[in-house]
This record gives sequence, C-alpha cells and structure tokens, in this order.
Amino acid sequence: MMRVAMIGGGYVGLTTGACLADLGHEVVCVDKDPRRIADLDRGKIPIYEPGLQPLVARLKKLERLSFTSDLPSATRAADVVFIAVGTPSRADGSIDLAQVEAAALEVAPHLADDALVVIKSTVVPGTCRRIADLIAGAVPGRSISVVSNPEFLREGSAIVDFMQPDRIVIGGRNAAGISRLRKLYSPFGKRNVPFVVTTPENAELIKYAANAFLALKIGYINDIANLCEQIGGDVRAVAHGIGLDPRIGSSFLAAGPGFGGSCFPKDTRALAAFGREAGAPQPLIELLIARNEDRMRGIVRRILEKIGQRAAARDATVAVFGLAFKANTDDVREAAGLTVIPMLQQAGIRVRAHDPEAMVTASQLLADVEWCDCPYGAAREADVIVVLTEWPSFRDIDVNRLAGSMRGQSVLDYRHVFNPSSAVSAGLDYWAVGAAPAAVPA
Ligand code: UDX
Repeated sequence: MMRVAMIGGGYVGLTTGACLADLGHEVVCVDKDPRRIADLDRGKIPIYEPGLQPLVARLKKLERLSFTSDLPSATRAADVVFIAVGTPSRADGSIDLAQVEAAALEVAPHLADDALVVIKSTVVPGTCRRIADLIAGAVPGRSISVVSNPEFLREGSAIVDFMQPDRIVIGGRNAAGISRLRKLYSPFGKRNVPFVVTTPENAELIKYAANAFLALKIGYINDIANLCEQIGGDVRAVAHGIGLDPRIGSSFLAAGPGFGGSCFPKDTRALAAFGREAGAPQPLIELLIARNEDRMRGIVRRILEKIGQRAAARDATVAVFGLAFKANTDDVREAAGLTVIPMLQQAGIRVRAHDPEAMVTASQLLADVEWCDCPYGAAREADVIVVLTEWPSFRDIDVNRLAGSMRGQSVLDYRHVFNPSSAVSAGLDYWAVGAAPAAVPA
C-alpha cells in the first residue's frame, strides 16, 4: 500500500484516484474548489461516469479515499503526488500549463524527502523536465523526481479503461522514481500488462500521438462516409471490411458528426501547435482539425437543404437528438451540437433538443433552446430531426410516433440509431451518415 496525493478532482484525477484506492492504496484527492470537495465528501460526484459514484462511496467507507482542500497536509503524507489538473487550449491551440506549474509550485515545499511527483495531465513533450526544474528552483538542494504517466481513459468507460489498461506508460530518468511508480502499479505487472518505460519526452508524446492517431481514424472514415454517400455505398460495410485487417483494427471507424469531447479537439490542436513550434509541422493533423470543424458546419448545410425543400428557415423547427459529445456521458465539450445549434438559430430556426443526460450541462452553454424531456416532445412540429449522439435509448424510439409528431419528415441520422426500413415505412425521409438514401419499400 502506498500513500497518494491526487492534485485535481476532475475527470482524470477523481477516476484515477478512486481506481488507485481500489488497487489498495490510500488516496487523498485534493481540489482547490471547496464546493467540489464538499460535494465529494457528501458522495456527490460532479461528473456522470458510469460506476464512479458507487466506487467512490465504497472506497470512502473503507477510508482508502478521502477529499480535502488542504494541499500541504495531503502532500506531506504522500509517497506519490499526482498532478492531474487541467491543461486548457490557448487561442493558437497550444496548451496552457499554468495550472500544472501552479500545482507543482504549491506541492514543492511540502514534498516528503523521497516523494515522487507524477504528471498525469496531458502535457506537451518537455513539460516534465520543466516541472522538475521549477520544483528544484523552489526547493533548492532537494532532488525531486518528476515522471510522466499519461492516461488513456475514455469518458463513459474510464474505470474499465483504468482497470484493464493496454499498457502503463512511464516516462522518467530517475531509476528510483520509475521503480516507485512500477510499485504503485504492481497489480498490473502481475497481470502481465506491458510497462512502457521510456524518457519523459517520449511518454508525453505517446499520449498526443495516440489521441491524434485515433482522431485521424475518425476523420478518415468520415471522409470515406462522404464518398459512400455519393456512390450509394455503406460506410459501415467498408469499415467492417477494412477493420478486420489487424493492421487497421475495427475500433474508431464509426462515421459520425465529427469528433468532440475534451480531448481529441484539444490534443490535436496542441500537437499541431507543438509541431509548428518545434519546427516539425503536422500537416495531416492540421488538415484533420479543419475537416472536423467543417464537418460540423456541414451538418447545418444539410439541414438547411432539407428545410429549403419544405419551408422557409424563418418558421422552421429542428429537433436535435443528443448534445453529449458521445453516449454514456453528460459532457458536451466540443460536441457537434454546440456548433450546429447556434448556426441554426442564426438562420432564424427554432431549435428543440433532447438528451437523456446532457441537457443540464448543455443548457449552461446554449441559449433559446427548448429543452424537451423526451424525444417525441422535441420532434413536435419539427421539420427536421438530426441525431448527433448514439444514446442507446434512441434506438428504442417508436419511429411511427415520431413521424406523427413531426411537421416535416426528414431525419438526418449521424449515428445510425434508427432502423432505415422502419423509418421509411413510417413515412420518414431517412438519411444516415455514409449510407445510400434508404429505399422506399416497393
Ligand atoms: C479519448 C481517447 O479515446 C482516450 O484514450 C483519451 O484518454 C481521452 O480522449 P474520449 O475523448 O473520452 O477519449 O472519447 P472517445 O471515446 O475517444 O471519443 C472521442 C470522440 O470521437 C467522440 O465525439 C466520439 O463520438 C467520436 N468517435 C469515436 C467517433 O466519431 N467515431 C468512433 O469510432 C469513435
């Protein structure tokens, strides 16, 4: 058992802290926001992450997980101090390291003699070295080891992703620091999970290179979807056919409205900016970013085309199904709806929206939207329905009832949630991403 201080109680810090406690360690999660700490202390989890609430409750009860705003005491007691604070994008796409640097300077004077500092936040190559220098400057004469340990957690499956990692990446130069982190993750070692032990710079770049590559797969299949739409192909069949090649792999080949979330957009912009700064521009990633942003705007063009065929935009209504950037989360950061809805409203279109989990978070970012507790309410008198999130509950929607609720009959399904023949039989003009227009039954 080791004692861990987790600086940052957000998506990454809270999930990682709870999972480390579940591995048997004693974790104190530190956050600046006293309200967040008070909520966590009361068992109120600030994020919708399946399984996190009961996990936190169980580990709190076992007294292996606790929450505090008192960073000094948590740091003094820790064998390992994780920094898991935010690294937001700047206007040029580069990341802002201010929170990471501030956390490092805050913990520096309270670090135990042989404490290990671990950068869990997603940071550009060279940050670990920079943080080590910062700490050395703050507490001269101390030799504090700073290692990189990037996370590969997907929202909605973060606990499983932590507990069943493909690999543990450790970037360090100090043997003692590396072996301490190996010890922390020793339960995974016993399960033969590969440990990638490398330099901090390589570890930091692995994170960006992985995310950017996954985003590239999505951008690529979205372009292939465009081609399928033109030639009457089906992108799901093509994705299946190529994905069976283990060199390609079948994951991250689902065409959709474009990738969103707090990671892919931010990490691709950060990698592109870092490449420019380092003298090795990343044109593939630069293009990917532009294509992804244009794809989301293209959704509006497709909606307007549908409306143009029916009614003037000024008295048109569009129903948006799904605001979360993907299913199984309430997170709407960089979700397609955040681009689509304001553009529709600028065109004078009334927008109704439904999302099983993300309407509260979305309503903090979008104005003048009629939020509907059920999809049929959102579809009422709508000229067009556009599906942007692949919520399982959308697959159970009664398309006949939906058709009866609409004024128009156009459905733009960017997530293949509806059955095409049922939709067409219900009299809907059904379109799905990367597929030929659903044939009207003879
Ligand atoms: C991602 C990485 O997957 C994870 O390893 C990293 O640690 C953090 O960033 P996350 O952003 O939570 O995780 O979501 P992810 O499941 O990767 O989806 C990102 C976006 O891509 C979503 O908008 C999703 O809808 C979209 N996506 C994903 C597709 O459009 N098609 C796919 O096949 C997969």
